[in-house]
Amino acid sequence: MLCTTVAFAQNEPRTILDFNKDWRFYLGDEAKAKIITFNDSDWRTLNLPHDWSIEGQFSKHHLSTTQEGALPTGIGWYRKAFTVSTSAKGKAVFIEFDGIYRNSEVWINGHSLGIRPYGYSSFRYELSTYLKFGREKNVLAVRVDNSAQPNSRWYTGSGIYRNVRLVTTSQIAVNQWGTFVTTPTVTSQKAVIALQTSIRKAVGRTSKGELPTIRLVSTILDAAGKEVATQTTQSVRLIDTLITVSQQVDVSNPILWSVEKPYLYKLVTRIYNQNRLEDRYETPLGIRSFKFDPATGFSLNGQPMKILGVCLHHDLGALGAAVNRRAMQRQLELLKAMGCNAIRTAHNPPAPEFLDLCDEMGFLVMDEAFDMWKKKKSKQDYGLTWDTWHKTDLEDMVRRDRNHPSIFIWSIGNEIREQFDSTGITIANELASIVKTLDTTRPVTSALTENIPDKNFIYRSGALDILGFNYKHEAYADFPKTFPNQVVLASETGSSLQTRGHYDMPSDSVRMWGKGGPTKFTDGNPDWTASAYDNEAAYWGSTHEQTWKVIKKLPHMAGLFIWTGFDYLGEPHPYPWPARSSYFGILDLAGFPKDVYYLYQSEWTNKPVLHIFPHWNWPKGKTVDVWAYYNQADEVELFLNDKSLGVQKKTGDELHVMWRVKYEPGTLKAVSRKNGREVLIRTMSTAGKPAKIQLIADRTALNADGKDLSFITVNVLDEQGNLIPDANHLITFSVNGGGTLVGVDNGYQASLESFKANYRKVYNGKCLAIIQTNEKAGRIRVKATSEGLQGAEIELVSQ
Ligand code: GAL
Repeated sequence: MLCTTVAFAQNEPRTILDFNKDWRFYLGDEAKAKIITFNDSDWRTLNLPHDWSIEGQFSKHHLSTTQEGALPTGIGWYRKAFTVSTSAKGKAVFIEFDGIYRNSEVWINGHSLGIRPYGYSSFRYELSTYLKFGREKNVLAVRVDNSAQPNSRWYTGSGIYRNVRLVTTSQIAVNQWGTFVTTPTVTSQKAVIALQTSIRKAVGRTSKGELPTIRLVSTILDAAGKEVATQTTQSVRLIDTLITVSQQVDVSNPILWSVEKPYLYKLVTRIYNQNRLEDRYETPLGIRSFKFDPATGFSLNGQPMKILGVCLHHDLGALGAAVNRRAMQRQLELLKAMGCNAIRTAHNPPAPEFLDLCDEMGFLVMDEAFDMWKKKKSKQDYGLTWDTWHKTDLEDMVRRDRNHPSIFIWSIGNEIREQFDSTGITIANELASIVKTLDTTRPVTSALTENIPDKNFIYRSGALDILGFNYKHEAYADFPKTFPNQVVLASETGSSLQTRGHYDMPSDSVRMWGKGGPTKFTDGNPDWTASAYDNEAAYWGSTHEQTWKVIKKLPHMAGLFIWTGFDYLGEPHPYPWPARSSYFGILDLAGFPKDVYYLYQSEWTNKPVLHIFPHWNWPKGKTVDVWAYYNQADEVELFLNDKSLGVQKKTGDELHVMWRVKYEPGTLKAVSRKNGREVLIRTMSTAGKPAKIQLIADRTALNADGKDLSFITVNVLDEQGNLIPDANHLITFSVNGGGTLVGVDNGYQASLESFKANYRKVYNGKCLAIIQTNEKAGRIRVKATSEGLQGAEIELVSQ
């Protein structure tokens, strides 16, 4: 059996070990696997985080249905053997799971440590009393049961899909999520930092029969690691097993955290027992203040700003639910470049690294707890365990996440069914008070659908600080009358539908799809596509432009969260099988922007933008609508083969311009001008015959840490380098050296190819290959070939 050796340095008060490597995995149920002597030598070896669903094949027969991505679910087991050096005797040893989907039970050496139904909660168990030390082997066994289906309205993934750590502390230590840092006063001269530290004491009295007394030292470091403030509390007597110590420090001339400049301090907490260091614990700290106003919306550090947000589910496309920091960072980079400044973690607490990234990159976060309360939405969902678990799950979310400066709103639920009856009053009050007991510095919201005040019992509870409304853009203007003196934001908007690179004309006729439900859906395209002109939407939503036009004008609307930033697996509304991923994203599942990405970029950033579409390969004589999104210019002139097709200007609240053009092959050129001076030029030419493959890596210098990724865009081009807009060639990949191919995708919502294959068809000219480093430094050569095309190679360096 594989066995990890865990050794501890005596003088390290706290050790945090990445415990992801070398687990054994078995897909299926095996009751005896919890027993320490069970022989797992024929099980597969893998590293966590791991999602077994994403490795499977699509099928319309899977119990998960297309709503959950049409991938397999079921039961799986994980086991890991390890030895612990005798130096850990007397220490407190914990196993920490950031999230297991779902219904996990964990055993150490055959002893059950507990169960956790909710797949999005982080939790830990103490192992100390069951551990064997020295050369004797310990075995952790984890059973994951995602077999009861359906239990979600989107793809969840299955397995230990987030990180795992082994944490060792002294018997006197900062408790789990035991620090709480707030900034009650923030001015440019001074920030007051309030600190609460809960200290866990697992020992009894000292040898002299006394209760231990400790010294608590809290130090604030700036981003360069320089000490800027410190507070020492002497002689704290540990009378109980858990005590909380309050402190306060001032930071003068603080550098504030903002979305443009996400400056981070750090709190270092030290606990001394006599002169012995018992614990050293770090907490991120951002100093910022914010305010919501019913009339004027949101302001951060006194500066008014609109919340320009998107909703995100947790899957990472071809990587499934398996957490990868770089994959999340890439998503956030793409959103940042679009001008997005906020994320709603729909509809569950995210991975902790996601919040670290939002702190570091400057995103505001609405952290959401639940998609349902007691009244379920899917037959086997969390509603079934609501009574026993909701308090723990909500408390754990707030405790885990409340130090992140990025988080500015807690959401207690999405489109909760209890809105419609009086139980909504009781539960909303209970949940809001759970949150407020742990954090009064952030408002509580819930994403509502019912906007008739009398009919909405969650609103009537009075428990919400902010009213979040999903959709209903026609009602926003009246909100100050409908909900006087209430802060309101659009917690979810749009649900417009697009397939990258597919265009249905005429572009100015809008299809609101899905009335009557997917089975009666007869009005769709035979290839399960939706139009990228922003002219299709779910009937309860709107096009992108419709909602943004309204929000933009209304100062009382604090902002919006568009449904969604990226396409996600599952919920392929309005299509049935074989569609298996959503159409709602501003970027597709592979992370390629759809055209509407540039609408937001033109509205939300200071970058000059001129984006024209569709492509320029059509049957001769066809009437084609050419759209342009632009900013920082008064007009755009379009030329076809150097002949002007006229100048267009956005007037009124228009967000794009359009030319209706009789197609002839050649080159389309758009020129944007301000005061008669050229701002930008964009050209697009008719592509000839498919000739070659082009590979473009987002990063070529990688870390040899076994986790880092390079996302390689694959384009099929003609001899001149024009993208073939309808190319669907099958590309085969080979990877040599210090990396492996871990995922392929093309963003097509009805593709049934495996995400784990070493080949992929390009879709509308593009596909994606994701390369992960291994732990050996060196070169990685990625080769792509396809019959009839000139192949391509790219070299990455991993160190
Ligand atoms: C909303 C819901 C989302 C998603 C979306 C699709 O009503 O909150 O989770 O289902 O519709 O349009």
